[in-house]
Amino acid sequence: MKQGLASIISNSEVMPRVHLIWLESPQIASEAKPGQFVMVHCGEETVLRRPLSIHQVADATQIAFLFTVVGIGTYWLSQRQAGDNIDLLGPLGNGFAIHPGSHNLLLVAGGIGIAPLRFLADEALHRGCLVTLLLGASTANQLYSSHFLPPEAELIATTEDGSDGFKGLATDLIVDHVDQADQIFACGPVGMYRAIANYSKQFKKLHSTQISLEVRMGCGRGVCYACTVKTKNGLKQVCQDGPVFDLDNILWDELDFIRNNGL
Ligand SMILES: Cc1cc2nc3c(=O)[nH]c(=O)nc-3n(C[C@H](O)[C@H](O)[C@H](O)COP(=O)(O)OP(=O)(O)OC[C@H]3O[C@@H](n4cnc5c(N)ncnc54)[C@H](O)[C@@H]3O)c2cc1C
Ligand code: FES
Repeated sequence: MKQGLASIISNSEVMPRVHLIWLESPQIASEAKPGQFVMVHCGEETVLRRPLSIHQVADATQIAFLFTVVGIGTYWLSQRQAGDNIDLLGPLGNGFAIHPGSHNLLLVAGGIGIAPLRFLADEALHRGCLVTLLLGASTANQLYSSHFLPPEAELIATTEDGSDGFKGLATDLIVDHVDQADQIFACGPVGMYRAIANYSKQFKKLHSTQISLEVRMGCGRGVCYACTVKTKNGLKQVCQDGPVFDLDNILWDELDFIRNNGL
């Protein structure tokens, strides 16, 4: 884990209210694993750093974040320009674990949930795995562009209003793909994780289903306990023990609590 300034290479709005920002950060890029995150200092008006997943790594020197502008911190970040310096702390958290016996990976992304899964897709393809990505969004202009994805990954797009791809939810298509999958990796809203769990009886042959949890964080490194959640294995700190958890370890009451608190 490193703390330091990173220089912005580019910052562009790639979908309405969604920014892709590239930074020069050899320290973080050289250590980062898919599913890990960085605590980003978002200007003087925010006391706490904001957690953002590592979206991509390039040349072992550059990292990217993909983020939705939802409040004061992400708005501040969206306004930064190439050449500005940003204070980063990371990489943090456990990250996704690809089982050595897995060859076919099914990735399920809901909305901005594509943020950590893009890096995972890169890593999996690099290891010679086959990657199928179920990518869901509410409508076409919120759908992450296929141009940003590695061409080797099989992409299946869904929109809730049917304006692009399959009309429905990304999770509606899991049943068509789970038989070929060795592992499932998902990132999205809590409702999406519940839908995946509903299919779990058909997941017998999977090595694991891993999900990335989003909760409010304070320090991001195990000091403040703000991110503590109950799991079947006891109390866990999402910033250190997660953010990636095995779906089997999730207590649904706890996830509903997270959802009811707006996350
Ligand atoms: C491990 C982890 C990785 C994340 N990765 C990404 C990512 O790659 N891209 C991305 O767009 N977002 C990501 N998030 C969510 C992101 O951290 C929040 O959107 C951000 O902190 C909001 O800061 P803000 O100052 O703009 O909003 P605030 O002004 O603090 O809040 C504005 C609104 O955002 C909601 N919000 C605040 N914190 C969170 C949170 N942690 N999760 C969800 N909603 C929140 C609040 O409920 C409120 O409604 C991640 C969160 C975690 C825990
Ligand atoms: S955010 Fe402080 S312990 Fe996890």
